[in-house]
Amino acid sequence: MHRFTNKTVLITGGTSGMGFATARRLLDEGAYVVVTGRDEARLDSATSRLDAPERTLAVRADVASLTDLDHLTRQIETWRGSVDAVFANAGVGVFKPSTELTEADFDHVIDVNFKGVFFTIVKALPLMRDGGSVVINASWTLHRGLPIASVYSASKAAVHNLARTLGADLAPRGIRVNSISPGYIDTQMYREANPDLGAEARNAAEVPLGSLGHPDDIAAAVAFLASDDASYITGQDLVIDGGLVGSVPGA
Ligand SMILES: NC(=O)c1ccc[n+]([C@@H]2O[C@H](COP(=O)([O-])OP(=O)(O)OC[C@H]3O[C@@H](n4cnc5c(N)ncnc54)[C@H](OP(=O)(O)O)[C@@H]3O)[C@@H](O)[C@H]2O)c1
Repeated sequence: MHRFTNKTVLITGGTSGMGFATARRLLDEGAYVVVTGRDEARLDSATSRLDAPERTLAVRADVASLTDLDHLTRQIETWRGSVDAVFANAGVGVFKPSTELTEADFDHVIDVNFKGVFFTIVKALPLMRDGGSVVINASWTLHRGLPIASVYSASKAAVHNLARTLGADLAPRGIRVNSISPGYIDTQMYREANPDLGAEARNAAEVPLGSLGHPDDIAAAVAFLASDDASYITGQDLVIDGGLVGSVPGA
């Protein structure tokens, strides 16, 4: 499939996990891809692994910094002039009981996951072509209560709501806005949040399809939502979780 030939896609947090897999998928489908992250060495590594230097631009930008986002949009404007799709993917998790969450934890999660997503989109809008698409990476935790994930889950509920409101707001320009809710996906974030050896088997047992998801499963869904194949879909959340939120665990 070559649904993205000559199109430009911004992917925040493209140095690993779902962002990286989506960059690879969209490059395979012909796109020009801008990937971001906070760390130059990780950006260099991602660029070299993506192996399409003429169609890849890596920009160091912390999504929580409006100065960085302004710099990012200037770089994209110089490189390609416009943007066809945005995958607002960068996110962080702080997973502990609410009584142990500090103000610094709260601010960090909200700054990256909510403020960062909002301003990634708002700052990209002047560059976005009419008829473009925005996909926000939310989480299955917006659909379920998970005791160690109160602020994280609330940040993801907030960005799903953004998909609804911005979907309506930007409809006159033909710009569609949707969110995705990945389940347990085998990435660096998952491994850091679940360091104990039994976690993968325990989590896989909660999933009707019987395994963790792979970043490529998410990339395929993002490519669909970002493409014209989804041209009548906006303001929605697509759950990609092997059945996790749709079932009663262990029943
Ligand atoms: N894995 C799961 O089970 C799961 C489930 C549901 C939702 N999610 C969501 O999926 C998204 C991607 O996570 P992942 O699982 O693919 O984990 P990952 O491999 O750790 O990727 C996270 C990406 O976000 C970037 N990032 C983090 N903070 C950033 C910031 N302030 N500014 C710019 N980039 C930043 C990281 O880049 P650098 O570290 O290089 O800066 C990295 O590229 C997140 O929004 C996460 O909440 C994950």
